[in-house]
Amino acid sequence: MRTQVAIIGGGPSGLLLSQLLNREGIATVVLERRSRAHVLSRIRAGVLERGSAALLRHAGVGGRMDAEGLPHDGCYLSTVQGMFHVSFRDMVNAQVLVYGQTEVTKDLYAAQDAIGATLIDGAEDVALHEVDGANPYVTYRKDGEQRRVACDVIAGCDGFHGISRQTIPASVRHEFERVYPFGWLGVLSETAPAAHELVYANHPRGFALASMRNARLSRYYIQVPEGTRPEQWSDAAFWDELRRRLPPELAESMETGPSIEKSVAPLRSFVCEPMRHGRLFLVGDAAHIVPPTGAKGLNLAFGDVHYLFEALRRWYRDADAEALDTYSDRALARVWGAMRFSWWMTNMLHRFPEQSDFDQRMQESELRQLVTVPSARTTMALNYVGLPY
Ligand code: FAD
Ligand code: DHB
Repeated sequence: MRTQVAIIGGGPSGLLLSQLLNREGIATVVLERRSRAHVLSRIRAGVLERGSAALLRHAGVGGRMDAEGLPHDGCYLSTVQGMFHVSFRDMVNAQVLVYGQTEVTKDLYAAQDAIGATLIDGAEDVALHEVDGANPYVTYRKDGEQRRVACDVIAGCDGFHGISRQTIPASVRHEFERVYPFGWLGVLSETAPAAHELVYANHPRGFALASMRNARLSRYYIQVPEGTRPEQWSDAAFWDELRRRLPPELAESMETGPSIEKSVAPLRSFVCEPMRHGRLFLVGDAAHIVPPTGAKGLNLAFGDVHYLFEALRRWYRDADAEALDTYSDRALARVWGAMRFSWWMTNMLHRFPEQSDFDQRMQESELRQLVTVPSARTTMALNYVGLPY
């Protein structure tokens, strides 16, 4: 088989890139290791930046998002001293949209099916070949049979544990990493959200987040020690701990119910430079991971998709390679911005194992500055709604 752009990984990055390219008449093949049902079962991101929402509309998949997504004008931060609001609308005249990654992925599958895109799931042993030259190709196994896709370029959209990044020789790759000594235990439940906007809580017992997917579907997280397994937490224990960490006025009236999903996510900051090697371009989690605090992971992935899509369009339409040549630099500039924001939010809101009284006062002071200094809230709001592409 031959295509123009071989896309490794059919998560949100791979599917969105494929959809955007197909609409420009550029052929793609998406190779995904897992089944669609498995991809949809992963409960992940919940907040879309305005740029992500605009990109989804541009890809022709904004309809349900605009009808069902919940626009949020701001979020709450809470400490033992109380809860305060950061208004994105007042500070930077912008909003974010609460619309889950699962729904984005469903919409992308439907749109790709409607235009007859080539999505191959259950692709095993995917391997990238000759990415240094002008004729790269990809091999994989499906139904016990070895297959090959020749292409012009390869987009590595296969997430943090994928194989694309490993294809870049170690001598060329520079990896930056910070692993945080805790994780997030997440619960999804068919209950009314605790508040009308998200609540990020700094608490002596550890961080907590009250989020949502819709009016009858809540998403909550609590900070847990690294290595925690979801089975160690009963629903009752989770709700008790969450109530302790959220502001009392919310905890008292909060609806609880059985969890319909419970999982633990580790927290890590990671960047691979460069994001391009020959004809291979890394996109999304394949190149970088942020800790989830601040909801940047999916949005950062969509930023990469934007840059690569524009670059490939210019390359195919105008035979102009400049944007492809600068893809890595342009994507990385934005990546490091979101890295800083997620690291800052994580440091400000979590309880670290060796946290001293001094460190504690620094967190309180950082939060106090947000309460008292409008320009501090403006900087937070600008980053939360998304730095420009
Ligand atoms: P992925 O979603 O990881 O997709 C990569 C795809 O490639 C997968 O479908 C995978 O099966 C496939 N693949 C992997 N290896 C291969 C291979 N060898 N061959 C073929 N296919 C392969 N972000 C937020 O903003 N908020 C959150 O609350 C949040 N929670 C998260 C919780 C968890 C547990 C994780 C892991 C991430 C979370 N994120 C969150 C981050 C966000 O979900 C990711 O940034 C987003 O999924 C990135 O999309 P992607 O398409 O780049 O990568
Ligand atoms: C969600 C996750 C986040 O990391 C975040 O900062 C906000 C919302 C969520 O899953 O709803």
